[in-house]
Amino acid sequence: MKELLATVKENKKIAEGIWAVTLTLPEPVGKIRGGQFADLSVGDGSFPLKRPLGICAVNGDDITLCYQLKGDGTRKMASIKPGEKLSVLLPLGNGFDLGEAKNIAVIGGGVGIFPLAAVVREYAGERAFCSYIGFRGKEYACLLDEFSRGGRLVVATDDGSMGMKGNAVQAFFSDYGNESFDLIISCGPPVMLRALKAELAARGVKTRCLVSLEERMGCGIGACLVCACKKSDGSNARVCKDGPVFDICEVEL
Ligand SMILES: Cc1cc2nc3c(=O)[nH]c(=O)nc-3n(C[C@H](O)[C@H](O)[C@H](O)COP(=O)(O)OP(=O)(O)OC[C@H]3O[C@@H](n4cnc5c(N)ncnc54)[C@H](O)[C@@H]3O)c2cc1C
Ligand code: FES
Repeated sequence: MKELLATVKENKKIAEGIWAVTLTLPEPVGKIRGGQFADLSVGDGSFPLKRPLGICAVNGDDITLCYQLKGDGTRKMASIKPGEKLSVLLPLGNGFDLGEAKNIAVIGGGVGIFPLAAVVREYAGERAFCSYIGFRGKEYACLLDEFSRGGRLVVATDDGSMGMKGNAVQAFFSDYGNESFDLIISCGPPVMLRALKAELAARGVKTRCLVSLEERMGCGIGACLVCACKKSDGSNARVCKDGPVFDICEVEL
């Protein structure tokens, strides 16, 4: 993990309320695994805390982070111009370890699709992916090509304006049995992950399932405990350092 002063190469809108910023790093940071994240400065001294964003793509010394305009920090980010320098801490967290899995179901909703896209991008051609990706509506849809490159893509939208009407978890279970998987990876809002965990348990699905959690963060490096989550055995884990990826059975959602 390094703290670097990166140069903004591009910062552009890719869908309604979603932007992608590409940063050129001044030096290599070693291998970055899909599911790892970066802590990025907003580029304004009035925001002392960096924002955690999943690493969406790595291209040589360039990394791309996609962000949804949410509060003041991400809105400020949208005004960042190419050539500006931003402090970034990366790579953080553990990322998805696919092990030997060959047929992988990818279930993503909201900003959770960004780290998942990095996994598909890294292993496309080597492993077979079937991606179930949910958006609020078609105007929010992005990165479809990235997911298609990995294999079959099923899109769901809350309002039915693109693909099936529903969310990514519903899309996965409505297709259940048509494909066989040896691993499920997922990232999305807590309500989505809770629904996934409940339905996997209700159906007695034994396939290993890894989920990436999102918690408010302070330091991003395991020191402040702001990001603590409860594990199923009653202990606590730090999402930034012990995660953000956990086995779904291991954490309380
Ligand atoms: C591991 C991880 C990966 C993430 N990856 C992405 C991604 O790829 N794209 C994306 O759009 N969003 C991602 N998020 C969520 C993103 O960090 C927040 O949306 C963002 O920090 C909001 O900042 P803000 O200033 O606009 O919002 P504000 O609400 O004004 O933020 C105030 C403070 O709360 C923190 N905060 C607010 N919401 C969240 C949240 N959901 N998670 C963590 N901290 C939060 C902010 O970092 C900031 O310190 C990720 C979060 C985590 C923990
Ligand atoms: S954000 Fe400080 S310990 Fe995780």
